[in-house]
Amino acid sequence: MDRIVAHQSGPLAGEVIVPGAKNSVLKLMVASLYAEGEHRLTNVPGISDVLTMGALLGSLGVQVGFAEGRHDELVLSNSGDIAWNPPPENVESIRASINVLGPLIARCRRVRLDMPGGDDFGDRPIDMHIAGLTAMGVEFDTDATHIEARAENLHGAEIALDFPSVGATENIVCAAVHADGRTVLRNAAREPEVADLCQLLVEMGARIDGIGTSVLTIDGVEAGSLHPVSHAVVNDRIQAATYMSAVAMVGGDVFVRGARADHMEMFLRKLSEMGVDVGADPTGVRVRCNGRLRAVDVQTLPYPGVATDYKPLMVTLLAMADGIGVMTENLYPGRFRYVEELSKLGADIRTDGHHAVVHGVDRLRGAAVVAPDIRAGAALVVAGLAAEGRTIISGVEHIDRGYDDLVGRLAAIGATIERSA
Ligand code: EPU
Repeated sequence: MDRIVAHQSGPLAGEVIVPGAKNSVLKLMVASLYAEGEHRLTNVPGISDVLTMGALLGSLGVQVGFAEGRHDELVLSNSGDIAWNPPPENVESIRASINVLGPLIARCRRVRLDMPGGDDFGDRPIDMHIAGLTAMGVEFDTDATHIEARAENLHGAEIALDFPSVGATENIVCAAVHADGRTVLRNAAREPEVADLCQLLVEMGARIDGIGTSVLTIDGVEAGSLHPVSHAVVNDRIQAATYMSAVAMVGGDVFVRGARADHMEMFLRKLSEMGVDVGADPTGVRVRCNGRLRAVDVQTLPYPGVATDYKPLMVTLLAMADGIGVMTENLYPGRFRYVEELSKLGADIRTDGHHAVVHGVDRLRGAAVVAPDIRAGAALVVAGLAAEGRTIISGVEHIDRGYDDLVGRLAAIGATIERSA
């Protein structure tokens, strides 16, 4: 298993380019299930989850490969013969496999799916997916290990989500695309990645109004009427935040090209409050920092709030900020597993329920740590750049699921970091 070795670094300088978003590309790939023919996605990040999703789609009848000579462009060839029961081995390793549910119901009116895997943040229920789809006429037969669904009569419905769940919004929209009549989805998730999926579906011929807002109106179109398109994946706000956090942590002046300030407003505001100089233009965000950060309190919330995926980065920044910061996690109470690893580097963090109280310390010291999931892994790498000596991060396979060459990109802006087998 590979390891990342991070040495105390900084200041960082230069430019880093933000790749496409994991949480968009995986759902955009699934949309190829709707239409026979050749679909293209550009700005595809080089991450292992894309390969896992490619294998899942392959088992359903869509062959996925890279365009000739390209590592950031996918060609997805839908044979027209789509299966409704993917094998368990293609479903269990990523959470986004649940996203085949809506499209398969729309297209095949039938699905058999093992329960999806993904990062372990504790319980990750799918009751809102099921309630929404049930209101549209889908009949479920589920147990702890699998989901079986049929829809003889898939129809539009008025649905209000208890919470703006990303996955439930996406599955309901995807089923509604071919439902009979109109679906109105209230309290829908507004994340840029959800909007990117809706936009792609519209380009393919779906009828969706209210994209990017909390009320989505979907008028069903006839099955078979969607067509393949070419679409560029939205840039990844979480990868962008990772490079910004590295600069905030160890100082420097870096232009994060392709970072969408309009998608990261609350995160950027928090960085400014902490003392980072943030300057945005339509092509990216410049971050400059020299000196210690100031502690702030942060709460994770659905978009446009501070995303839960930024949280390990923010806790890492607080670990070396002046003062005490309280981080409150409102989405995944179990998402604090990396705190123990940060403590090995000397961070002073106490957790109580869904709060973490972080006392900023003067210095962190290198140690051997384990990445428990994608975002926490990246945060440990950022912490390693600030820690004295060297930090060895194992569990790199988690980071590879969502980061396109994190080590190479950090090294290019001056970090002393390498990957070893
Ligand atoms: N929830 C329910 N019932 C449901 C669905 C969700 O109770 O039916 C709860 C969840 O347990 C959680 C909250 O609602 O407490 C939010 O879950 P949501 O459905 O919004 O998240 P998701 O679709 O499972 C996606 C991302 C996550 C990201 C969250 C929140 C993908 C593949 N995953 O998950 O990304 O943290 O939205 O923004 O898009 C990551 O990329 O590292 C990652 C974990």
